[in-house]
Amino acid sequence: MKIYCEKDYEAMSRRVAGILAAQVTLKPDCVLGLATGSSPAGAYKELVRRYQEGELDFSGVTSVNLDEYKGLSGENDQSYRYFMDSNLFDHVNIDKSRTFVPDGLEPDSEKACADYNAIIRREGPVDLQLLGLGNNGHIGFNEPSAVFEKETHCVDLTASTIEANKRFFEKEEDVPRQAYTMGIGNIMQAKKILLIVSGEGKADIVARAFCGSVTPEVPASILQFHDDVTLVGDEAALSKLMAEMEK
Ligand code: GLP
Repeated sequence: MKIYCEKDYEAMSRRVAGILAAQVTLKPDCVLGLATGSSPAGAYKELVRRYQEGELDFSGVTSVNLDEYKGLSGENDQSYRYFMDSNLFDHVNIDKSRTFVPDGLEPDSEKACADYNAIIRREGPVDLQLLGLGNNGHIGFNEPSAVFEKETHCVDLTASTIEANKRFFEKEEDVPRQAYTMGIGNIMQAKKILLIVSGEGKADIVARAFCGSVTPEVPASILQFHDDVTLVGDEAALSKLMAEMEK
């Protein structure tokens, strides 16, 4: 695993944007696996800046996002489709019809997941998969569980995830209780993984994910088995991992 420990959120975002930009430049028709959340938002801003300065061309890029809340439409400002449009897609020359997010408005979970698996199979493999990390070790919305789910599935969000994500909603009752997410198998099939973590609150879970045992109770721990993982974090988020690795 390659680790970049950056001074702060801005430096981390520049590093992540640089890795994504290199991917797009070296392979203009690449497939990017994209993520939402506060961790990647700064990197998307930096990519938009680079695009506006004429450094990047997204016209050949395809994207598949990790997850979406069940029940939210793309017009809802808390949906992940809305997040992607407003943070990245609306500001660069990506072909919107080549950007994929699970359909939050499909009420039939089996259909929503089967449709998304078909999209991943058709468009894949993902060249570079960007991931954030939940406080409980989730990646995408793969919550701690007894097994690693392979493909896109519908999850019941845990109390800790609802608690962590309520900051984006007016009130806690507004946070959807379910989501559609790529499975761990889908994620592991990406050629390269780029995990980003920021803030002291993630320090414990980052150390557990990479120095603890591989278990579905810490979904991100599976990344120990992927042979091309890059971890980019700020000093606060990586502090405990670095200390463990020095032991
Ligand atoms: C959400 C998303 C994840 C994301 C995680 C961490 O629950 N489903 O894909 O990685 O939160 O988000 P943040 O980067 O805001 O801490």
